[in-house]
Amino acid sequence: MKISAVILAAGYGTRMKSDLPKVMHPLLGRPLVDWALRAVEPLAATPPVVVVGYGQEMVRAYLGDRADFAEQQELLGTGHAVLQALPQIDSTVDTVLVTYADMPLLTGATLDKLVDLYHAQQADPGLAIAMLTITRDNPQGFGRIARGADGNVAAIVEESDCTPEQLLIRELNPGIYCFNAAWLRQHLPAVPKSAKGEYYLTDLVAMAVAQGRRVVTASAPIDDVYGINNRVHLAEAETILRRRVAERHMVAGVTIVDPQTSYIEDTVEIDADTTIWPGCVLRGATVIGKHCTIGPYSQLIDAVLADRCRAVYAVLEQARMDAGAEIGPFGHLRKGAHLGEGVHMGNFGEVKDSYLGPGAKMGHFSYIGNAQVGANVNIGAGAITCNYDGVHKSETVIGNNAFIGSDTMLVAPVAIGEGAHTGAGSVVTHDVPDNATAYGVPARIRSGSAGDPASVGEIRGI
Ligand code: UD1
Ligand code: MG
Repeated sequence: MKISAVILAAGYGTRMKSDLPKVMHPLLGRPLVDWALRAVEPLAATPPVVVVGYGQEMVRAYLGDRADFAEQQELLGTGHAVLQALPQIDSTVDTVLVTYADMPLLTGATLDKLVDLYHAQQADPGLAIAMLTITRDNPQGFGRIARGADGNVAAIVEESDCTPEQLLIRELNPGIYCFNAAWLRQHLPAVPKSAKGEYYLTDLVAMAVAQGRRVVTASAPIDDVYGINNRVHLAEAETILRRRVAERHMVAGVTIVDPQTSYIEDTVEIDADTTIWPGCVLRGATVIGKHCTIGPYSQLIDAVLADRCRAVYAVLEQARMDAGAEIGPFGHLRKGAHLGEGVHMGNFGEVKDSYLGPGAKMGHFSYIGNAQVGANVNIGAGAITCNYDGVHKSETVIGNNAFIGSDTMLVAPVAIGEGAHTGAGSVVTHDVPDNATAYGVPARIRSGSAGDPASVGEIRGI
């Protein structure tokens, strides 16, 4: 069996009331169309053909090589949409799977069930279509599955065309089908225009039955075929997906204290024995190691944390923490921040484009930007790098074991030597040699040994 998938994505999505094409709206870290592709990719022998129309530039740019594209210039219905895709499908393909780009909850398991059904019956040359059906109390908007006296599917009747009796049918058409490719190629062009002026893909069912062909069905879970038409649907689908993603992590050994208040995008990786406290937002390419504690109330975007890290009431963006590093409560790591092994950042600290070496401590109210900070450096309360002179950003270098006194202003570019000290409240405008002590405004170097406890104590203001 050689399968090609066609994904319909040309609709306007008017009810989203958005500048963004509907299928590009994000759902737990991926646009809707991405979810649709991920469901079919494991089954299909060739890249799926995505039928695009409204907003197609964005969809094409996003999917790139992952898909082939067919343009539907006028939205003349689902049958017309699939017809546009047929020329793109390789002649060796014998099975065409059709799905929608706005059904992001469709799982590989449900599609497998459909494909397996088709496969099992494929030997029967009379088989034309295998399709999913759902049964639900609220049938609104769905085509009804009309069955004959023998129990076989006779037709799909669109809601607007239903008789009062047909309106009562609760077996519904979610719109996911497997077609015999040769049969589809031959008969799709013959689907007539409906009263609404559209070509209905669903008309193929009655057409197959009239030819004495068989149409078989497999039932799908309702959650799987949840179509997104507006932002209420988007939020409801997200609730379902969030639960699925959280369950995946929990089964893999992650403790999620309150899955309902944890927003974890599908792209995020978390290792076993890590605990996610309530109120966390974990997004993008975030990777979290083992035995970490995240939250309560932290946001991590594209952050990479090694094992045993801790982030409490913290915000991290494109930042890295090595093993055993900790931040918070109320810390902010911005782009390019990298905390070395065992670094401690306490409350109200901000780090950007800087590396803090192993064992460095920055307990309270500091800003470190464009800096290289050595191992075991102590950054006193309120110390900051003055990295911007209004025009340029400049670098600060702090050597291993240096001690930056409380409220020190390091006016970049500036280098603090290994083992050097700065006095509380000093404004350091020139480099400080190894083991020297700088103090005052502007800072001057104190003669004598920085290691002399009496003199250092006096300068630090302790
Ligand atoms: C369709 C089915 C209906 C089914 C329902 C399930 C038909 C005729 N009806 O109805 O039986 O219960 O889906 O959701 O197929 N699209 C295009 N080009 C078009 C028209 C639609 O790409 O010209 C795409 C849309 O973007 C959307 C999908 O096809 O992703 C379904 O279109 P929609 O208009 O929502 O179909 P329904 O009228 O709801
Ligand atoms: Mg429609």
